[in-house]
Amino acid sequence: MSEKWQALRDHALSVARRPILSLFDAPGRAQAFSVDAGEMRLDYSKTNIDEQAKAMLLTLAEVSGVADKRAAMFGGEKINDTEGRAVLHTALRGGIEAKVMTEGVDVMPEIRKTKARMAIFTREVRTGKFTGQGGKITDVVNIGIGGSDLGPAMVTLALAPYHDGPRIHYVSNVDGAHIADVLKGLNPETTLVIVASKTFTTIETMTNAETARAWMATKVTTPAKQFAAVSTAADKTAAFGIDSARVFGFEDWVGGRYSVWGPIGLAVMMAIGPEAFEDFLAGARAMDEHFVAEPFAQNMPVQLALVGIWHNQICGHTTRAVLPYDQRLSRLPAYLQQLEMESNGKSVAMDGSDLPIHSGPVVWGEPGTNGQHAFYQLIHQGTRVVPCEFMIAKAGHEPDLAHQHLLLVANCLAQSEALMRGRSLNEARAIMEKKGAVGDELERQARHRVFPGNRPSTTLVYPKLTPFVLGQIIALYEHRVFVEGVILGLNSFDQWGVELGKELALALQPILEGGDASGKDGSTQALVEYLRG
Ligand code: F6P
Repeated sequence: MSEKWQALRDHALSVARRPILSLFDAPGRAQAFSVDAGEMRLDYSKTNIDEQAKAMLLTLAEVSGVADKRAAMFGGEKINDTEGRAVLHTALRGGIEAKVMTEGVDVMPEIRKTKARMAIFTREVRTGKFTGQGGKITDVVNIGIGGSDLGPAMVTLALAPYHDGPRIHYVSNVDGAHIADVLKGLNPETTLVIVASKTFTTIETMTNAETARAWMATKVTTPAKQFAAVSTAADKTAAFGIDSARVFGFEDWVGGRYSVWGPIGLAVMMAIGPEAFEDFLAGARAMDEHFVAEPFAQNMPVQLALVGIWHNQICGHTTRAVLPYDQRLSRLPAYLQQLEMESNGKSVAMDGSDLPIHSGPVVWGEPGTNGQHAFYQLIHQGTRVVPCEFMIAKAGHEPDLAHQHLLLVANCLAQSEALMRGRSLNEARAIMEKKGAVGDELERQARHRVFPGNRPSTTLVYPKLTPFVLGQIIALYEHRVFVEGVILGLNSFDQWGVELGKELALALQPILEGGDASGKDGSTQALVEYLRG
């Protein structure tokens, strides 16, 4: 471990018992430990990061080559070198330069062309110019998994107030229950199926696509006419029988978990329309511009990444809770799980050596206030510290229910305050005294009511969950993951760790159908036997 890491750890250790609350004795703490991007504010003042830690973390980002890597990414270099690919999802939202070059080719004209085709098709579906066998399309089913599901599904839910198109449904799991439940309520004659798969080989997606086609064939003479595809593999979409007029391609320099900005976002475009989709892209572009232009000290993705590094690699907190106080962001934690854990869950550095430090944290979460009545108990009183990332809008979309939004905000702020402040034994004793407890019983009961406090959190405040703001938020997290990955010295853009399970599942299928299990380990053999029995 390098000196810089060690120095940060030493510093963290030396201040570990300091109450975060005491940091507010210095005037201006909240402002100095907040960063703005557009109309969003990230407050990280309720962490144990002080001026010294902040300076050391900023140096760490500088010496780790974040600026050079950022330039290489936006410049179309093949920074995903274990797959030999550039990383250009930022180009899908318009790029920060007029031309975005990779391998001597400007990728922008093709991106614009495909987006224009998506918009035309979307308008045709939404106006009824494109119909199913039974008339205007009422329902769209997006079949995809991982990045071909989590991004568009999360965004569709988040932007519910902007829906003015057909109903959108998502099927991802190979568990037949998923597709069965979704298709049960739909009419094949007025349903459009989008098969979304970057590779068009993913077994779950292809199996569900076959099931959907068979379902449609029960009522529709030419099901293929009600199918569209989103993929990098034009040959495979053609082999599946989908007309190239309804195939929307993209290049392999878009990672699955970074793909919602392009054709994988087709179902989102169907829901909210091409104009609102443009706003969504514009929000992400605004965050790209902020990320590229702002000095690290005022750079929101960099600061969020440094807070993450501080909590995970420096302080040793192994998980990170994402707690949006926004019901429409209820799929955001799942989306971020893929974004963060598939990107930064690695053990090997870029040069092939073992990582000298831990890679990214376990990311999890649920919307508030629901989580408060479930797992917050552990966050407040458990023995492990869980850094929390709160998110809250200034305003909701329901002016008639402004009093509920106020309550939501109050709860969000109360939780971060409670985590930091805690409740001392003396305060707990006073509560028990009021209840009439005495002696040992008072003491015993009081101990159960102590909150250790000093638990760190960040709060992201955004104006209102519009398409633009959602674009900003997602791009913020993408760049945060990028910065953390560069500092950790790993490749955030491959995902070899998902391959082995896929290979073994393929090999197990014939065994489950009666094949020879003798090559398997004892546990797998026994389970196969039990399942077959
Ligand atoms: O297996 C993981 C993964 O490759 C993800 O990275 C990806 O988002 C998902 O599967 C779906 O892949 P595809 O879009 O190629 O079907």
